[in-house]
Amino acid sequence: MKPRVLKGIVETRTALAGAAGLGLVPTMGALHDGHGRLIEAARRESAVVVTSIFVNPTQFNQASDYEQYPRDLAADVEFCAARGVDFVFAPEAAEMYPDPPLTTVEVAQIGDGLCGRYRPGHFRGVATVVAKLFHIIQPERAYFGEKDAQQLALIRRMTADLNMPVEIVPVPTVRDASGLAISSRNRRLNPRERAAAPVLYQALSAAAARVAAGETDPDKVKAVALEILGCEPLIRVEYLELVDPERMQAVERISGPVRAAAAMWLGETRLIDNVLCSPPK
Ligand code: PAF
Repeated sequence: MKPRVLKGIVETRTALAGAAGLGLVPTMGALHDGHGRLIEAARRESAVVVTSIFVNPTQFNQASDYEQYPRDLAADVEFCAARGVDFVFAPEAAEMYPDPPLTTVEVAQIGDGLCGRYRPGHFRGVATVVAKLFHIIQPERAYFGEKDAQQLALIRRMTADLNMPVEIVPVPTVRDASGLAISSRNRRLNPRERAAAPVLYQALSAAAARVAAGETDPDKVKAVALEILGCEPLIRVEYLELVDPERMQAVERISGPVRAAAAMWLGETRLIDNVLCSPPK
């Protein structure tokens, strides 16, 4: 069965009024297996599944990136239909932002480092649109991928701080056979870049192995990963950090689980990934 596609906020509230056990999968479309995993988790646990498809202009730093973001609603609706989604909420930008918003959601600390440092305003845009989606759809649970670990930590904290009655469900990163995390940006890579891309996961996995072996100095762990990335001339590293998994702040010493998180450029394409690193017991 095809999902019902909802475009207006009033129409959506009416269609979902009284629905119990609602699971929301927020997306920007260009759906791939990573989203598929989120939808499958929602389908298992929720009576009604809503996927939102909205390329949110307020979380892009560059107009060109926003304009070039892949959009194919018909294909995305097919993708949702094959996975038993009940409703697709796919508003236009003018429906979500009839006026430039004067009210925004800013989560301190968690959004400052890593991607936040290189994409000013990005996480304000994410937190604000997710808060709006929660208010419009009123889900019981919402599903987010661990690939965007900083986004996940930030949304968890936002819902806790603002007492939003939504359970945030994390879903593990989906990787292809080479270890590359599935992302809509992968399709922008040319064949040479695509061949180089798996080194990001290899470097983060090497960092995790070093932590598992008992290394407590984050600089030494980072050096191992940076050396691996340094062997691939096409790669430009934007950041590589070991952070505490809740606040996403760089640690000075490894005394518990940390996330090794990195962003890198391959030509014009920016890829991010992260791996949870656990010290020996
Ligand atoms: O992860 C994404 O695709 C987006 O950041 C989200 C959560 C749908 C908000 O626009």
